[in-house]
Amino acid sequence: MSSKFLWITDIHLDFLSTPEVDRFIGKLQSESPDALLIGGDIAMASNISVHLKKIEDAVDSKIHFVLGNHDFYNGSIMSVKKEIRDLVKYSSKFVYLDDSQPIQITEDTALVGHGCWADGRNGDYASSDVMLNDYVLIDELKDLSKFQRLAKLHELGDEAADRLRHNLNLAFNNNKNVLCLTHVPPFKEACQYQGHVADDNFLPHFSCKAVGDVMLEVMHKRADSNLTVLSGHTHNPSRAQILGNLVAITGGAEYGKPAVQDWTW
Ligand SMILES: [Fe+2]
Ligand SMILES: [Fe+2]
Repeated sequence: MSSKFLWITDIHLDFLSTPEVDRFIGKLQSESPDALLIGGDIAMASNISVHLKKIEDAVDSKIHFVLGNHDFYNGSIMSVKKEIRDLVKYSSKFVYLDDSQPIQITEDTALVGHGCWADGRNGDYASSDVMLNDYVLIDELKDLSKFQRLAKLHELGDEAADRLRHNLNLAFNNNKNVLCLTHVPPFKEACQYQGHVADDNFLPHFSCKAVGDVMLEVMHKRADSNLTVLSGHTHNPSRAQILGNLVAITGGAEYGKPAVQDWTW
């Protein structure tokens, strides 16, 4: 019997009224998944825990999740992560993938994940005039010069890459297939806008090259294995075959209209 993994990303529940949130969570409950995957941008710093608890109360399955940039808005990365770690500690359902070992989800498949961060390395950061809300609404990124900010983006991307290098190798030691959940897409080919790869102005803020490089490094050495990456953040759906054994899928999203991604495992 095949398992039902429900994947949602960029649900931005803070854009909904309470009845609308309840309706969406009711839909998740009615799907009775074997596991739920949440790819980040769930809400904002002040209300992410409330929304996650509502999902926990409604869904019987394990809830594997990563956080997205919006989840830290009007707060700090450090304090939101601490709050989330406290929440997860007392739950039998939540798995915060940034902190987790690989999870066995089928006989020959493991799940890993990390929120990742757009690390400024793809595209042309120096010339880019994009000013994300991240750079004014997240404590660690605000009040920095453009190049101080780039150093911080590199640090966040590198942290994700180190963690995923470790977990991907661990997962592939015992599995033919690995599923990796991220918020930020690791490849520019998976970072699209209206059907085309995003341009050099936007790529620095929408893709995590450090993580993409690690995935290429790992998959070049593991020709007989397969890696599927599920990301979000761009809100523009895409599917990119990066290598013969590496596919990167990005979920679509619209503010105010959270949806289950059309994807089957
Ligand atoms: Fe989003
Ligand atoms: Fe995002």
